[in-house]
Amino acid sequence: MYRTHTCGELRIEDVSKEVILSGWVQKIRDKGGMLWIDLRDRYGITQLIFDESKADAGLIRKARSLGREYVIQATGNVIERFSKNPNIPTGEIEIVVSKLTVLNPSKVPPFTIENETDGGEDLRMKFRYLDLRRVVVRKNIQLRHKLMQHTRSYLDSQQFIEIETPVLIKSTPEGARDFVVPSRMNPGEFYALPQSPQTFKQLLMISGFDKYYQIVKCFRDEDLRADRQPEFTQIDCEMSFVTRDDVLNTFEGLIKHLFSIVLNIKLDAFPKMTYDDAIKMYGTDKPDIRFGMKFVELNHLVKGKGFQVFDNSRLIAGINATGCAGYSRKQLDALTDYVKRPQVGAKGLVYVKYNEDGTFKSSVDKFFNQEQLANWAEHFQAKPGDLMLILAGDPSATRTALSVLRLYMGKTLNQIDNRKFLPLWVVDFPLLEWDEETRRYYAMHHPFTSAKPEDIEKLDTDPGEVKANAYDLVINGVEIGGGSIRIHDRKLQQKMFDALGFTEEEANQQFGFLLNAFNYGAPPHGGIAFGFDRLCALFGGADSIRDFIAFPKNNSGRDVMIDSPAPISEEQLKELAIKMR
Ligand code: AMO
Repeated sequence: MYRTHTCGELRIEDVSKEVILSGWVQKIRDKGGMLWIDLRDRYGITQLIFDESKADAGLIRKARSLGREYVIQATGNVIERFSKNPNIPTGEIEIVVSKLTVLNPSKVPPFTIENETDGGEDLRMKFRYLDLRRVVVRKNIQLRHKLMQHTRSYLDSQQFIEIETPVLIKSTPEGARDFVVPSRMNPGEFYALPQSPQTFKQLLMISGFDKYYQIVKCFRDEDLRADRQPEFTQIDCEMSFVTRDDVLNTFEGLIKHLFSIVLNIKLDAFPKMTYDDAIKMYGTDKPDIRFGMKFVELNHLVKGKGFQVFDNSRLIAGINATGCAGYSRKQLDALTDYVKRPQVGAKGLVYVKYNEDGTFKSSVDKFFNQEQLANWAEHFQAKPGDLMLILAGDPSATRTALSVLRLYMGKTLNQIDNRKFLPLWVVDFPLLEWDEETRRYYAMHHPFTSAKPEDIEKLDTDPGEVKANAYDLVINGVEIGGGSIRIHDRKLQQKMFDALGFTEEEANQQFGFLLNAFNYGAPPHGGIAFGFDRLCALFGGADSIRDFIAFPKNNSGRDVMIDSPAPISEEQLKELAIKMR
């Protein structure tokens, strides 16, 4: 028997029991006459004690020969600790060891395996299996497991069926590049890995499964960021005979259930905001509504007064930074530099200080008098002591830059409460997005998304104005999920492909199987997919999804531990009919 108990199990009630523990040596403290070892396993840490004056010399010698991360087995008696550690559940006891076996020695690990480690990111990724021994990292993986189990049991209780869909498929149109896999048996042909199971889940609705879900790996060859991995996991769902609100209610239920059971947080009903409002008030389709600072537009107040920058701009908008009128020249210059960085992209920053004495001091005093500035302040609902920050330019770029400034000021002014979770449904997205470079429309969500019924007519005349029956779930400014009510009518699907500039032949070649299936009684249907890794990071209070994935890729899409991607042999290439340049 390797163990009678785990390292997280023993308590004061167990004193005087003879026990066997197995685990890893986390720390050794040798104080001459006494030696302590922290023994770790998945369940916790238990302290072992060796007393030179009482123990056999051979045992002490053996204990002294151990190193960090040795795997050992210790037999001994549970005693009450002299100096207790209230920070760990086993902190009231320790084990007086009578027998010690080294199950496996270890090389000195390349970094310390403790919550505060001395290992840099690259090193920890290379030795990810050691990083995963750290309690903080393991907890994230356990949180992921818990969220997965509760998602499954909730959806099962709502009559959803988990169905696996294939991984070797054909391109799915989610807007990123595909990862492809060559086919040996079909030389010159490739499978694509799914960017999502979108087409399959729609086919399952046509098959009559009615409620489908799958916790599923998706693959997208896109630029990586903290919240993006080339392979990631979705909670992918689809339902038949549903309206938008049926879908939203069902999945609001899932998210509330997860918050309640995993974090013990009871969420209020999720508000809805249209895409247009989100853009107008927050400059982004994923607003963080934990704090205010909504945009105020000033076009009607500021144009035609001789200030060229405003006169030549299609949008002049700003935010009110409460209590910041005291900002120094240096602070304002720093803010100006911040918004002018290429990542933010503003051309400059106009400020108006609402001084405590009721006067105004601005960077545009030459063009606007006190009365005019007072009028602006009224629009901002600013008070003495506030600072108005204003950007001007092309509407889309200005809103984007202002949204970055808003987040920055929100953080700087401590207006974002990290203990709060504020979900938001963003609805009524545009159906199509115009791309100036290729001079054509793209589906903003994907080409199977239906238009709002009242807008279908506009598909021929004014495609850019058509709103989609699509929605995103945003929590604390993070896009957690997205979905739509689908087109279930073959003719309408064809019309959508027309709007996207697909010829009938192209549409048939790529999606003929789906168009064909629509001929055989497709029910009205819709669904959603959640970014499971993002959900885990949100629950774990972290920005990066990497720590919630057991074996993630780095920012260049590499797994540095197994050293992948890697070249393959000439033979394999030949077999796959691939010629290297
Ligand atoms: P969408 O493309 O919006 O929709 O993806 C759904 C959710 O998946 C997450 N996500 C990602 N997470 C980590 N890394 C990535 N590279 C990544 N890309 C996306 C996001 C996103 O909201 N088939 C549709 C869903 C539907 O219509 O039902 C789809 O995939 O949290």
